[in-house]
Amino acid sequence: MARVALVTGGTRGIGRAIVERLKADGCKVAAGYSGNDAAAAACAKELGVMVVKGNVGSFADCKTAADAVAAELGPIDILVNNAGITRDGVFHRMSPEQWSEVIRVNMDSLFNMTRQVIEGMREREWGRVINISSINGQKGQIGQTNYSAAKAGVIGFTKALALENAKKGVTVNCVAPGYIDTEMVQAVPAKVLEGIIGQIPVGRLGRGDEIADTVSFLAGERAAYVTGTTLSLNGGQYLVG
Ligand code: CAA
Repeated sequence: MARVALVTGGTRGIGRAIVERLKADGCKVAAGYSGNDAAAAACAKELGVMVVKGNVGSFADCKTAADAVAAELGPIDILVNNAGITRDGVFHRMSPEQWSEVIRVNMDSLFNMTRQVIEGMREREWGRVINISSINGQKGQIGQTNYSAAKAGVIGFTKALALENAKKGVTVNCVAPGYIDTEMVQAVPAKVLEGIIGQIPVGRLGRGDEIADTVSFLAGERAAYVTGTTLSLNGGQYLVG
């Protein structure tokens, strides 16, 4: 029986690579997105998946999106909380909006989206929740107090939710990518990015499909004994940063 997966922020970047991979694994996949209709249309056409619009920072939008996916594809078995934004800036100049937008989209979203699906997963005694954190939630990054706080929060959320659901066949895990070649990372000032790449032991940015491979493993039957963990995929950067 094909599993149903929802990937938030699934029409671009790492999310799109995850959508593509879960589809290849035989899942029925929906890709969530918030604003870029052109990218969503391209994703739907090129990958042949459902796309669903809504702001993961809004509980009401998440309910609407989850209901739409369940109505079209069936109950959601696999949730990948991937949607995320940056509003970089040093803390001593950070605005309340820069802070709260990032906390809302990158962390409140975990409550908003996961809350829609967790009861069903528990009832059916099978579920996979996979949260995308970041190396910068693990080690911190100048210019990212907001993002680092949210991404560290993702790891704590993962552990607590894993404990609550371990006996119910629902695993909850985290993937912490390093710098992956996406629009988000390409928006980092070129000189700064050059310096960051120079620190990565494998000598390059990561690729979305490399993250997607790990998500695919965590989403599968063979990962039933893996829960509450964070898998770090950063080309060794954590060791030297
Ligand atoms: N140590 C301490 N302070 C430092 C510093 C350092 N190494 N480097 C810079 N600063 C401080 C400076 O002191 C300066 O403060 P003052 O002006 O008050 O003295 C302040 O940073 C600003 O420096 P700049 O004027 O050079 O730069 P800026 O304000 O235009 O931008 C920045 C600063 C936002 C941090 C910018 O350098 C930047 O965008 N850096 C990249 C941050 C980053 O890696 N983001 C990741 C985005 S991708 C992502 O998030 C995906 C993922 O999960 C990995």
